[in-house]
Formats: sequence, structure tokens, C-alpha cells
Amino acid sequence: MLQKDIEKILITENQIRDRVKTIGENISKDYADKELVLVSILRGGLIFLADLLRAITIPVTIDFMAISSYGGYAESSGVVQLIKDLGEPVLGKNVLLVEDIIDTGLTLNYLMQSLKAKQPLTLEVCTLLDKSVRRIVDLDLAYKGFDVPDLFVVGYGLDFNQKYRNLPFIGVLREDVIQR
Ligand code: IMP
Repeated sequence: MLQKDIEKILITENQIRDRVKTIGENISKDYADKELVLVSILRGGLIFLADLLRAITIPVTIDFMAISSYGGYAESSGVVQLIKDLGEPVLGKNVLLVEDIIDTGLTLNYLMQSLKAKQPLTLEVCTLLDKSVRRIVDLDLAYKGFDVPDLFVVGYGLDFNQKYRNLPFIGVLREDVIQR
């Protein structure tokens, strides 16, 4: 059982569902009559994207980027390797980057630079979680689900060593599991 490795649940399934619905409604209002592309980052952003997409009521397309970060969680280096780029051009389109969690902000900063170079009409960020206490790079977040404290969280797409993504809530991993 995955659940036995969880110290506590920070954000429940119901809380996530309600918040995602509200964010979807806000995005639908803000981008009404605009050409919107949601860009998700594999693999962590997958579940949030899938739910957010269904909470949006206006026409929308999706695209993916995949990256791999060097360094462990404790020393997020901001050195990111692009493994998969967008499938289609976003020139002149409204791009909304959908992220699972913003921690130091270094990864997002890299992604924003890479996307800006593709000359979208607008470029904004929607993140499910914001761990702002660890922020190094100042970034504007247009949509945000929840603030989280400086703890390692898993579930709802977020992993530890590629596991725990399938937990339906956001939970804190037990310290001994992280040390193992
Ligand atoms: P940043 O470059 O420090 O902002 O790191 C962002 C990336 O680190 C996220 O997209 C996640 O992949 C990962 N990350 C940061 N904090 C956590 C966490 O608490 N749990 C799981 N992954 C995390």
C-alpha cells in the first residue's frame, strides 16, 4: 500500500476537485474568444492537466513538453534538459503553462525562456501548488491552486523516485521513506 508511506494528507481529493473547478471557470472567462493552448510538463503535470482541461468550458488545445532536471530535490540546479519539445508552433497563440509545483522557480524560469522564444501572443502560468518559501527566481503566477509549506509532497501527479503519482490527494511523505 502506498498510503502507509504518507505522514499526513495536506490537500484532500475533494479540496483539489473544488479548486480545479474554480480555476477552470476563471480560465474559461479570461480566455473566452481567444485561442488558448495549455502546455503541460511531463510527467508531473499530467493529472492536473487532465482534470483542469475538463473544467474548462471554452475551446482549447493541449501540447506537451518533457524535461529532465539534474540534481536531487534538495539542490534543484535549474539545469534542465529538454527531452521533448512542443508538437506544434504557438506563434501568435495564448499559451498557458500548466505546472504541478513551483519550488525554487528555476525549472519554470527555463521553460518560460524556451516558450517566449516561440513568440506566443501571451504567456501565463497556472500551477497547482506553490512552495513559495523556497523561491529563488521571482515569477508571476496567473493561476494558483494552493500554497504548500517547505515539505516534500507527493500524489496527484507528483512523485518521489517516480512513485506515488497515482495517489488522489497531496500528501507529505514520511521522513524515513525519503531517507531510505
Ligand atoms: P523548481 O525548479 O525548484 O521550481 O522545481 C520544480 C520541480 O521540482 C517540480 O516540477 C517538481 O518536479 C519538483 N518538485 C519540487 N518540489 C517537489 C515536491 O515537494 N514533490 C515532488 N516534486 C517536487
